[in-house]
Amino acid sequence: MLKGKKILIGITGSIAAYKIPFLVRLFKKEGAEVKVIMTQCATDFVTPLTLSTLSQQPILIEPYNKVDGSWNSHVDWGRWADVFLIAPVSANTLAKMAAGIADNLLTTTYLAAKCPVFFAPAMDLDMYHHPTTQKNTDTLISYGNHLIAPNEGELASGLCGAGRMEEPEAIVEVIRSFFEKKNDLKGQKVLVSAGPTYEPIDPVRFIGNHSSGKMGYAIAEALAFRGAEVILVSGPVAVKVQNPAIRTIQVQTAHQMAEACFMAFPGCTIAIMAAAVADYTSESPAGQKIKKKGSNLSIDLIPTTDILAELGKIKQKGQFLTGFALETENETANAQKKLQNKNLDLIVLNSLNDPGAGFGTDTNKVKMIAADGQMKDTPLLSKAEIAEEIVNMIVSLTEKSNLK
Ligand code: CTP
Repeated sequence: MLKGKKILIGITGSIAAYKIPFLVRLFKKEGAEVKVIMTQCATDFVTPLTLSTLSQQPILIEPYNKVDGSWNSHVDWGRWADVFLIAPVSANTLAKMAAGIADNLLTTTYLAAKCPVFFAPAMDLDMYHHPTTQKNTDTLISYGNHLIAPNEGELASGLCGAGRMEEPEAIVEVIRSFFEKKNDLKGQKVLVSAGPTYEPIDPVRFIGNHSSGKMGYAIAEALAFRGAEVILVSGPVAVKVQNPAIRTIQVQTAHQMAEACFMAFPGCTIAIMAAAVADYTSESPAGQKIKKKGSNLSIDLIPTTDILAELGKIKQKGQFLTGFALETENETANAQKKLQNKNLDLIVLNSLNDPGAGFGTDTNKVKMIAADGQMKDTPLLSKAEIAEEIVNMIVSLTEKSNLK
């Protein structure tokens, strides 16, 4: 499965660096191409000669070659890789990655890399549990990086606890299963809606909401990563699409979002409506800016089209429709009602009562309820991880119904 895969390994200064020559051997045995970048400090723990012998590649440490002055391009190495694995990552490099500090070849390559990044921390248990390290780890996860969590066990300090880098065999397994998933949605065309809608009141004002679009964009990225062709209908948001396989249609209003979704849906096998669509819009937005008059102002609002419900009505056999529900009370019962009333196959329930879940945050916690009665609760995870959970659930449900 790793045959021909290009794996870039970044080694930082930690005693766990002694495991990396063995890791390189395992990757090479699987047929992967391996290149290694080391921090200067890492060279105190394991020699570049050992690593270049095993990887059959020169090892890069400095941003430029001190003998002939030639540049070691961090951009080229980042772009070469199918995956960038930073193992072991010390507390120091973890902090630099989270803060965007690019003061050596490894950290500049991390910032420039376009490929998925995995990081395997290794440090003393108190350093690992320090709130700063935990916060930095969460930040990296929220940016879509993949944590290979350390094990509990005996540490170099003689203490015992979490902080031991995962064993090389287990790391190979993580990377292998990552590539296995990579193309399981090839041939599927998926419609995703994301972000808020802005309903104009006059030429300068609108009714909107706090949706950041992060959840919908994370879902679009997770789908595209797994080989799906994604049409993302997005309201106004600050998030940017990373994967070129995602075609984004930018809209402002609920009406525009509805038109784009109705147009795209018939050609899609899966639709995931993650947008926070306005339920009401101004009946007749003013042509000119409304002047203040000192008295109360009333705006007549009329209901917008419920896009999800309309898609549920026109859904054909072989199409899988997912909706979201944001509830504050009787959450599960209300979500189940929406699932039935809107003819959905899956509903993803967000509760505003869960701290860290919902609007604006980088994390989320959801309950997924399928039409066949299956339910799954996630813990509080990054939105990228929640997206992965949702896509996994859809893949397993569609496999069952032979949609694929
Ligand atoms: N939705 C939609 N079009 C609308 C309103 C909502 O497609 N005009 C979709 C959202 O994208 C989401 C789902 O409906 O997938 C649920 O939105 P939510 O606001 O929780 O529910 P509503 O059905 O609007 O009901 P209520 O606001 O009364 O809870």
